[in-house]
Amino acid sequence: MNKITVGKITGAPTIDKNIYGHFSEHLGRCIYDGIFVGKDSPIPNVNGMRTDVVEAMKRIKLPVLRWPGGCFADEYHWRDGIGENRRRMVNTVWGDVVEDNSFGTHEFMELCRQVGCEPYVNINVGSGTVREMAEWVEYTNSNGDSTIVRERQANGHNEPFNVKYWGIGNENWGGGGNMRPEYYADVYRQFQTYCRTYGDNVPYKIACGPSDNNYEWTEVLMRNAGNYMDALTLHYYVFPKAWADKGSATEFDDALYLETLRKANLMDEYITGHSAIMDRYDPNRRVALLVDEWGCWHNVEPGTNPAFLYQQNAMRDAMVAALSLNIFNRHCGRVRMTNIAQVVNVLQSIILTDGDKMILTPTYHVFDMYKGHMDAELLKCMLECPKYENGLDKLSVSASQKDGVITMTIANFTDETSVTIEGIHAQDVSARILSAMPRSHNTFENPNQVSPESFEDIVMSENGATLTMPAYSIVSLSFTSK
Ligand code: AHR
Repeated sequence: MNKITVGKITGAPTIDKNIYGHFSEHLGRCIYDGIFVGKDSPIPNVNGMRTDVVEAMKRIKLPVLRWPGGCFADEYHWRDGIGENRRRMVNTVWGDVVEDNSFGTHEFMELCRQVGCEPYVNINVGSGTVREMAEWVEYTNSNGDSTIVRERQANGHNEPFNVKYWGIGNENWGGGGNMRPEYYADVYRQFQTYCRTYGDNVPYKIACGPSDNNYEWTEVLMRNAGNYMDALTLHYYVFPKAWADKGSATEFDDALYLETLRKANLMDEYITGHSAIMDRYDPNRRVALLVDEWGCWHNVEPGTNPAFLYQQNAMRDAMVAALSLNIFNRHCGRVRMTNIAQVVNVLQSIILTDGDKMILTPTYHVFDMYKGHMDAELLKCMLECPKYENGLDKLSVSASQKDGVITMTIANFTDETSVTIEGIHAQDVSARILSAMPRSHNTFENPNQVSPESFEDIVMSENGATLTMPAYSIVSLSFTSK
């Protein structure tokens, strides 16, 4: 017996649309090939950005894009990527490939303009300087008559880009400088001082947070620097087997499938743990928790460069996305942005490309089906369902309400099952379903193996509905008010 009872929450938080955010890094074929092919490419493009990829991003209303890393951010010097004669560097973090910096600040802003999303720029703390950061902020956001602003104008952009989101460092406990939390908290305080406001553009300052359950980092950051930040980040990746051998993206047994979901569900525990610490220092929840890297991390596809982290994406990944997004929705009082890693051709990507071909992954379809939650008011969902032996609920759900429409997203992790929904007095319902065996995935030869369809198997009742969910399915329902 599965039952979901829906109710209003007093003073309900809004599900920030940025929870549906993404991440682009100079890693493997994410930027080059995946997004940016240059103006002279035979692949259809606008100002060098692949038209197929930009259009796919627009269809899911991609709200915010983080760039340039990740680990790469703490090696990146923004001046290398502006103007003529760009400096070449070797990308020592990701495969020692030559980075010619042809995709830099102007190109990233152009990408965001075409997609219609907010840029989220992650600055270099690990190997950068305060001055370098301060000048980047000035270059992008100032309208004053300074040499740096004149330089931007000479490079073709008269008006400021007005970047709001600034990440001050990345994983500074590891690749971003191997800092202790006390030290990073002080460095963060120093850097953020010079992340200046220009005109009406007040920067939203994001401090590097912990990964997984490193609660000590959160405690020290909140205690020593909480008053100086708008947000703290959290990174959590699911390694289905283990870090050393993560397992194949498409070849796995049922036990590993359930283990992957159990690990994905730890996101709920980690957010709860970090939020509890933040609540002590920030009871009014001024400071947001941003999960600006998350997703499944598998072994690379056989025969591909191990440093490019190129992996396939199966229905199992879609289940992880559905589960994770439901968790983020439910925590939207504190979680106001997340960025799945990475948008094209890397870890849990929504898009894969091969030359001029592009496919949408099962994870893409989950983002598409969850769009109705963006900027909607969170509803309470009481879920009664059986659990697996590993403690995981057999279903995952979240619901929200906006403009007279209730959006509910349910993931059914295995067998066909019927679900009764109560507490919704709706006139009508429409629904979409994504259903496939966990190992199913889309390929360039068979791009629609896993793709959503409309779903009719719903019986409306006076105060809700009953639906029969096929095995391994994700359903998104839109109820229209009476
Ligand atoms: O997503 C790959 C890497 O994982 C990112 O660059 C880094 O931030 C994290 O360790």
